[in-house]
Amino acid sequence: MSRLVFVLNGPNLNLLGKRQPHIYGHETMADVEAMCRKACGENGLELRYHQSNREYELIDWIHEAREIAGGIVINPGAFTHTSVAILDALNTFDGSVIECHISQVHKREAFRHHSYVSMRADAVLAGFGTQGYVLALLRMAHLFDARK
Ligand code: DQA
Repeated sequence: MSRLVFVLNGPNLNLLGKRQPHIYGHETMADVEAMCRKACGENGLELRYHQSNREYELIDWIHEAREIAGGIVINPGAFTHTSVAILDALNTFDGSVIECHISQVHKREAFRHHSYVSMRADAVLAGFGTQGYVLALLRMAHLFDARK
């Protein structure tokens, strides 16, 4: 079975490190990708890593994952709180889905407290900073091991 994981990032996350560092920290998207590559290498996972500001691109990657991947780790950015289309796409995916937010969204504005994606996600991480991605990948490896 596939040990391929898609890590998908939504809008504005390309500005990680520059964007509100008091909330999102100083690591860049490239740093997060490097952390994910390392975690995947250490845990026998294959990785496809993407970021887009466009909703349809995230949907297209979910459709691609549907054909070939065992899991998706997704930080949908603000689409978390608005996108029924991303929820619908994730509902076509049979593998494990982990939703990951760098910030602790429940401590922030009320509009960030609702997530469409959480209606599909098997697990949710929020407030672990960029380390959340690594924790999500460790969990994914554990879920894949348990499948055998
Ligand atoms: C975020 C939280 C969202 O509310 C926000 O719109 C983001 C980033 C996070 O990682 O904490 O863009 O998903």
